Amino acid sequence: MATILIVDDDELVLESLKMVLKEAGYKVKAISVPEKALSVFDKYSIDLVITDLKMPNISGIELLKEIKQKAPDCPVIMMTAYATVETAVEAMKQGAVDYIMKPFSADELELIVKRAIKEKEIKEENVRLKEIVKSVTKSGDDLFVGEHPKIKELKCLIEKIALTDATVLIMGESGTGKELVAKMIHSLSSRQNGPYIRMNCAAIPEGLIESELFGFERGAFTGAVQPRRGKFELANGGTILLDEIGEMPINLQAKLLRVLQEKEIDRLGGRTIPINVRVIATTNRDLAKEVKEGHFREDLFYRLSVFPIYIPPLRDRRDDIPLLVRHFLSIYSRKIGKEIEGVEKKAMQMLLNYDWPGNVRELENCIYRAVILANGPTIKEEDILFSSALYPTRL
Ligand SMILES: Nc1ncnc2c1ncn2[C@@H]1O[C@H](COP(=O)(O)OP(=O)(O)OP(=O)(O)O)[C@@H](O)[C@H]1O
Ligand SMILES: [Mg+2]
Repeated sequence: MATILIVDDDELVLESLKMVLKEAGYKVKAISVPEKALSVFDKYSIDLVITDLKMPNISGIELLKEIKQKAPDCPVIMMTAYATVETAVEAMKQGAVDYIMKPFSADELELIVKRAIKEKEIKEENVRLKEIVKSVTKSGDDLFVGEHPKIKELKCLIEKIALTDATVLIMGESGTGKELVAKMIHSLSSRQNGPYIRMNCAAIPEGLIESELFGFERGAFTGAVQPRRGKFELANGGTILLDEIGEMPINLQAKLLRVLQEKEIDRLGGRTIPINVRVIATTNRDLAKEVKEGHFREDLFYRLSVFPIYIPPLRDRRDDIPLLVRHFLSIYSRKIGKEIEGVEKKAMQMLLNYDWPGNVRELENCIYRAVILANGPTIKEEDILFSSALYPTRL
């Protein structure tokens, strides 16, 4: 529901406008003291402003200019009883989307408001679509490279999921790109300008996970001299990535389930705080199996996997190896400052035949090493060292 701010020093006009717009289904903030309009504008998230032109102290044009500075995309409609071509032109020049001449009918007002809000929505959607196109086509470190049908399917799914607020569970072997996918979902979503907070459940001792996630009040336990915000609070308005969710202790899983259901957290030793966070979880374990074996809560598993995403291992999409090689070559030759043109045929054959137990991460490291080792403008067989050869785990 759109929120409209109306500014007019004439209380009668204000009241009648408020009634009309409320009935039309909008939320309305009505202000008769124009000086106060800006602080109200700052306080609420306003989708449209309707202001009178002639008011004491601040004119409608001045208000318009201020609003355009704060929020260039917020449409402003100017009302005036003294419409002349000049004032109308001046208002439009300063960025008003429309103007309306007093007295006007309720229908006229509704029509103009509806049109302005629709235009704003279309513009916003346009910006978002452009962002998506940009991020899918740009070449950079956070690009998800791959043309294999399964990867194409995955990219389509990511774009769709990003537009929702649904919880996502990303599954795949180590190094398949789960974190990269999580980051993409965040940066394609409407939360892109909000925080992106990552918590690696495998890297934190069991006893600390709870306070890390939910924060604590002063005195919650010995040593808690200052209250602290948890990761969920830090992620408010954005996305939290729960990496390696399979490692989360089972008693905490119940608490996490509550957060997902109630959209609020309990700080240790105190307050309940409402939160607005999108949750993305990753795992390289077979969670369905973990559920069967009683290590993972079934209800949480279903809650998390509203949208399950599975990233196939690299050995099942070998066609993408040359693309990924080119991608990492360009990144690392730029970083290291060597001009590498490509990979010799035999070397590429080695890369294509290898099984890549460490998936894309292993390939990335392998290319990094090759760029360092390369003596000429191409990568040769001897520049390729597989991790399994570097760390012989099975002797
Ligand atoms: N399709 C891809 N295109 C480009 N880079 C990729 C791709 N997949 C993975 N990478 C890169 O490979 C590395 C490993 O990816 P990431 O950390 O996302 O894997 P992961 O699945 O989270 O691994 P782990 O389970 O070990 O945490 C990162 O540097 C990432 O940028
Ligand atoms: Mg990871």
